[in-house]
Amino acid sequence: MTKILILQGPNLNRLGSREPSTYGTRTLEEIHEEIRALGTETGFAPIFFQSNHEGALVDRIHQAGDEGVHGIVANLGAYTHTSIAIRDALLSVGLPVVEVHLSNVYKRESFRKKSLISDISAGVIGGLGPIVYRLGVLGILDLLKNPGKNPISS
Ligand code: DQA
Repeated sequence: MTKILILQGPNLNRLGSREPSTYGTRTLEEIHEEIRALGTETGFAPIFFQSNHEGALVDRIHQAGDEGVHGIVANLGAYTHTSIAIRDALLSVGLPVVEVHLSNVYKRESFRKKSLISDISAGVIGGLGPIVYRLGVLGILDLLKNPGKNPISS
């Protein structure tokens, strides 16, 4: 079965109570439950990992490369804007990545407009709330069916 890593960066464990006017009121577990339901419906196996630590995220990406994960939906939180290490880890495994954000980062502070991940991602989805994860997974599944569309493997 297709395995998709849902990678969550720092502070996303606080969803539900964290800045609800920006990130909504759904918890991370509730969001994961919606992704699980989509997995049951459409036939993929989600693997969930959240960490507040850059190195742990790097290690989990390496592990994904070694364990036959097919693609990564990544909300790297603030590391999106700062982490060369996570960018390099994603490049090192060469899996298709969709970058997602709950909020529309382009409507926010200017430092959020820069991403170190977007140009190595197959796609970027943001600003729509928790549905971004499910859209990201559907995007990866579509890419896997049509690998020529994946800018990383082409
Ligand atoms: C975020 C946007 C980032 O700028 C921020 O640091 C986050 C969450 C989002 O989902 O909108 O932690 O990735």
